Amino acid sequence: MTVLEVIQRSAGFLARKGVESPRLQIELLLAHALGVPRLKLYLDFEQQLTAANLGIVRELVRRRGNREPLQHIIGSTSFCGYEIRVNRDVLVPRPETEMLAERAWQWLSAVSASPSTALDFGTGSGCLAIALAARCPGAQIHATDISEEALRVARENAALNNLSDKILFHSGDGFAALPRDLPFDLIVSNPPYVPSAEIATLAPEVRDHDPRLALDGGADGLDFYHRLASEAASHLRSTGRMMLETGDGQSEQIRRLFVQHKWVVESVEADYTGRSRILTLRSGRM
Ligand SMILES: C[S@@+](CC[C@H](N)C(=O)[O-])C[C@H]1O[C@@H](n2cnc3c(N)ncnc32)[C@H](O)[C@@H]1O
Repeated sequence: MTVLEVIQRSAGFLARKGVESPRLQIELLLAHALGVPRLKLYLDFEQQLTAANLGIVRELVRRRGNREPLQHIIGSTSFCGYEIRVNRDVLVPRPETEMLAERAWQWLSAVSASPSTALDFGTGSGCLAIALAARCPGAQIHATDISEEALRVARENAALNNLSDKILFHSGDGFAALPRDLPFDLIVSNPPYVPSAEIATLAPEVRDHDPRLALDGGADGLDFYHRLASEAASHLRSTGRMMLETGDGQSEQIRRLFVQHKWVVESVEADYTGRSRILTLRSGRM
């Protein structure tokens, strides 16, 4: 079978299984199996696949057809250009979170404190902490998670990106994971924000493969914003900022919640699809 035939047949199969962007998905799987950049496939459409390669590709396509995430099958993803390994223990980093990372490193790199300090609350794969550490080499980054399994992946990703000495990982529930008297210039978080009852309605790639701990934000999805609104101020320097990702349609409720807790909402920014996503806050308490 030629490269083009594999692409066409597999794209049809994946489409019937309900996979989004099936042609792109098979191209990425095929490029991964053959160990070539995806665009190289276009130069070799008529190349015959060996029986061994065909066997490998069939297995990958079978897994994707069962709605296993592409990133789990390949084993990694790219976040702001950094390679991040992923498995069932961590949320697959999302493109919209790259915008939070960008806003965070832009702000942190302008901070005059030396060293500046930042906290990634609920680090998962470590993607935000890694992007911050790479882009702000003068900063000390701390990262927390309640999941030991996630922290193992995050540490591996820090090592993979040669950033182990820039990030301190802490295990535990919320701010209780941190040592006392450790004020931050910046707190970033993409907390779990899916309302518990909605998890069952999500795409199989998310519902069955992302850890529930990474998704479940409680009955209304806002549990972690309540915690951050009431607890984060005492961990932030008076000149500090907190930047949070919010779920689709949640930002107005979350903005009001923080205002009630005496935070100043500096901005609410939309992602590339126009959905309000990133809240930048400073504490209004003096
Ligand atoms: C939505 S994921 C975000 C992961 C990563 N920061 C990202 O943006 O891809 C939320 C993370 O918060 C962690 N988490 C859940 N409950 C927590 C808690 N009580 N304390 C600390 N972390 C928690 C989860 O294990 C998960 O890794």
